[in-house]
Amino acid sequence: MKVTTMLSSSSFLLLILLISANPYARALQGGNGIEEELEDVKRSDFPTGFLFGVATSSYQIEGAILEDGKSLSNWDVFVHKNGNVNNGDTGDIATDHYHRYLEDIETIHSLGVDAYRFSISWSRILPNGKLGGVNAAGIMFYNSIIDNLLLRGIQPFVTIHHWDIPQVLSHEYGGWLNPLFQDDFVHFAETCFKNFGDRVRYWVTINEPNIAADFAYERGKHPPGHCSPPFGNCSAGNSDTEPLIAMHNMLLAHAKASKLYREQFQPKQGGVIGIVVHAIMYEPFTDDEHDKEAVKRALANNVAWAFDPLVFGDYPPEMRRYHGNELPKFTPEERLLIRDSIDFLGLNHYATLYAKDCIRSSCVSSNSACAPGGDRAIRGFVCTTAERGGVLIGEPTGLPTFSVVPRGMEEIVDYVKNRYHNKPMLITENGYSTPPQQEQVDDFQLDVKRIAFHKAYLAFLARAMRNGADVRGYFVWTLMDDFEWSLGYDVKFGLYSVDRATLNRTPRSSAKWYRNFLGNISSSSMKPRTAVAFWSKVGRAEE
Ligand code: FCB
Repeated sequence: MKVTTMLSSSSFLLLILLISANPYARALQGGNGIEEELEDVKRSDFPTGFLFGVATSSYQIEGAILEDGKSLSNWDVFVHKNGNVNNGDTGDIATDHYHRYLEDIETIHSLGVDAYRFSISWSRILPNGKLGGVNAAGIMFYNSIIDNLLLRGIQPFVTIHHWDIPQVLSHEYGGWLNPLFQDDFVHFAETCFKNFGDRVRYWVTINEPNIAADFAYERGKHPPGHCSPPFGNCSAGNSDTEPLIAMHNMLLAHAKASKLYREQFQPKQGGVIGIVVHAIMYEPFTDDEHDKEAVKRALANNVAWAFDPLVFGDYPPEMRRYHGNELPKFTPEERLLIRDSIDFLGLNHYATLYAKDCIRSSCVSSNSACAPGGDRAIRGFVCTTAERGGVLIGEPTGLPTFSVVPRGMEEIVDYVKNRYHNKPMLITENGYSTPPQQEQVDDFQLDVKRIAFHKAYLAFLARAMRNGADVRGYFVWTLMDDFEWSLGYDVKFGLYSVDRATLNRTPRSSAKWYRNFLGNISSSSMKPRTAVAFWSKVGRAEE
């Protein structure tokens, strides 16, 4: 099927008029007179070799849940239980990418991106996990994606695990709660390196272990749906301890896979390996010193919870201070294994929240907007909230905690830069979902606010980079409207809309904008900083 990628010239003119009145202009000013520079962000504000891309994940787009030898995943099963997903939506068909991937690759190509971030469905290539064989049809599917991307000059940027686990393993082990599961993951990763590593230069072991631990084992919103009060009423789980155990196992699984890759594959395949963390920025609820300390604890409990062990070999001191024995310990051997086990830090950035101290003041009743559990160690004794006095921290989007706060991009990049000595970073996801009530007003295809969002976030990213942050890429979440986990199809992040009845993809104005932005390749004003040094470390100087 042919996808129409051109907008009519009159609607394009209208689009230009609308985006020149950037609704986030005020947010961009920051009182320092830099708004013009920020408004006019261009591709040439980013160095040569910087990767621009779009991102997706297997369960959210593929569908075909039992086709060609694939077995059921934990998500395939979870979504069919009443009440787990809005409207009873499922990923059974999703966007039918499994059957339409060639069309989708053409679409990705038409955007002019350098890279495409996607994930591998574990149950499609290893239907029985470690115990069964490799499913040749699954391998063929991803081989075809990789080959077709490379044919069009697009780098495959592969996430090995983006939350979908073969149900048989999830059932047998309780997922990430069992240390035995680490070796199953390593087997999965090895299967990917063996079959795809000759052509894949960018590997992410696990997508957002911090959100996986939080949503599956603290809030009970993702499989296996574990939680305990005050986080929720699930039939099983302990929200104070299980997220810590799950994260511990994910970090060790990552480190083992990374060691294997570095010893057995990287020398000849020459790629890089990292992890992706959900990177929320926090700002103090008040100017009080205690709220400023709360910001530090919130950041440590979110971003540093995963990155500190992988860079320094242990959990952040801010966490160790407030946790007792429930925070697992790494043995000396494990510390050596885990330390420096990433080549890059992947940041998925969507949100900035207020952080309010709950050590010196009670958070239980004082602020009903607080996420539950602010008075507990698992939340770092911090109340996090998107609003203050009934006013949101930024313009609303389709998700209550994802307000539009472009400065948060610069702030989170600076935090990671400073904490990890400017280790190379990539923005592996950043995107905008239209608030449902706005879909009528803000024409569904003429998504002016999404364009303004990306321009603003990119502008703040460029400024962080001008100030020295070593960022290597930026991926828009997401190519097309997809299955957004427990929110189903209600939330729409796509550059392309997908008609749920026909599954036809239609470009939104933002798709056109991204293509124009990427097509404007006048020479870069920014020198590739340490690009050569970084990639050559693994035998692949960036050409
Ligand atoms: C991130 C997930 C991604 C998508 C976006 C909106 O946390 O990695 O799969 O759902 O949120």
